[in-house]
Amino acid sequence: MAPDAPESTPVSGVTGGAAGSWSNRFEQGLHPAIERFNASIGFDIELLPQDLDGSIAHARMLGRCGVVSLGEAERLVEGLETIRAEAAAGTFNPGIEAEDVHFAVERRLIELLGPLGKKLHTGRSRNDQVGTDLRLWLREKIDCIDAALVRFERALLAQAGTHGETLIPGYTHLQRAQPVCLAHHLLAYVEMAERDRQRLGDLRRRVNISPLGAAALAGTPVPIDRRDTAAALGFEAIYTNSLDAVSDRDFAVEFSAAASLVMVHLSRLSEEVILWASEEFAFVTLSDRCATGSSLMPQKKNPDVPELVRGKCGRVFGHLQGLLTMIKGLPLAYNKDFQEDKEALFDVVRTTLDCLEAMAILLEEGVSFRPERLEAAVATDFSNATDVADYLVAKGVPFREAYQLVGGLVKEALAEGILLRALPLERWQHVHPAFESDIYEAIHPRQVVAARRSEGGTGFEQVAEQLRRAAARLES
Ligand code: ARG
Repeated sequence: MAPDAPESTPVSGVTGGAAGSWSNRFEQGLHPAIERFNASIGFDIELLPQDLDGSIAHARMLGRCGVVSLGEAERLVEGLETIRAEAAAGTFNPGIEAEDVHFAVERRLIELLGPLGKKLHTGRSRNDQVGTDLRLWLREKIDCIDAALVRFERALLAQAGTHGETLIPGYTHLQRAQPVCLAHHLLAYVEMAERDRQRLGDLRRRVNISPLGAAALAGTPVPIDRRDTAAALGFEAIYTNSLDAVSDRDFAVEFSAAASLVMVHLSRLSEEVILWASEEFAFVTLSDRCATGSSLMPQKKNPDVPELVRGKCGRVFGHLQGLLTMIKGLPLAYNKDFQEDKEALFDVVRTTLDCLEAMAILLEEGVSFRPERLEAAVATDFSNATDVADYLVAKGVPFREAYQLVGGLVKEALAEGILLRALPLERWQHVHPAFESDIYEAIHPRQVVAARRSEGGTGFEQVAEQLRRAAARLES
């Protein structure tokens, strides 16, 4: 025996700690380091409410199916509710010897009810139990994330609503491209968030399937009713194949992938806010409530919130990769490797919720756009050059020819250090006789934006329509 192994007490029955939960084939307790290594109670206690819900549904079903009497089923339910109350009062604190939340609950139930408690685990296994708990937990969290996405969208819409007339440079390759309406820019993120909500709604249907009753892997001879527990727990369906039921973690991967995309969207907006807050752009100011200072440089105001959001992508994407790797080599059916899914999912959920909340707050009260700076930016660049070409196109000049002519004009203006609008009319007409004095109006940034009336474009009416639709969609 290893020198630091615990006393070799033979264990029997479920009352002897987790080791004691195993059958009489075990003669020795676990090595303490292995006990710690094996235990998940340190984190899966998070699943306690779901474990109790699942156990209550299971107990009631056992009663309805005549596996236990109806009176026994009621007492099992009462015992489980007692544990819920103890947890709420802070008196249910299972230690490492409980191994996991499932054993912890069962052990306490047996303490409370005596031999009757030993009937709860009839016709089920921890394998279908843990899958049930995790799905119930994730289903609820998906709804929380959906609500957080709605708040984030509302915050974007509120900003968009106040900036329906504000212009901002639009970029491609991070080079000034064409001016756009600021509301239009913000509404692009609303569209991303809507797709996130759709994706979560879609995968929620695959989370919401009951594995309960698959037992260890093969089903059970106990006359249970899987549809009874599924209905009681609000599952939309039951797994068709018991092996698949206990070994499927696709839902964890799908969810982490969807959460990763949420993070991608938040991170892209973060990157923009960080740029906008820099002295080089100076398109926004950060409020004191959402920015921090430097410990050394007194003039600094740092965009920590979007930086953290951007940085936290790493862990969410990492968990996605971790889950895929954890699952890929596993033979059917349950493998203890699955215990690793929990901390990954818990962290993905916590991080995604935290980031959504932080970004919503940032939009609600952390950033204010500086219309004067934005206005000055779009008025002092060449982002209206396409509109000069479009002006000629409207007068019958083929686009490619117009494009070349305007390129020449831009080159001249750049060389002289002046803007297009500063070129006298003769210069325009020298390039092409179709230019008339209305060219100055046509290249005014406000007109440039207004003219983009194509569906989904940045024209003011189009944007107002987008705003209306996005708001209506959120209300429905
Ligand atoms: N703690 C385990 C998990 O998280 C519960 C299921 C254990 N099942 C088993 N047969 N050892 O996956």
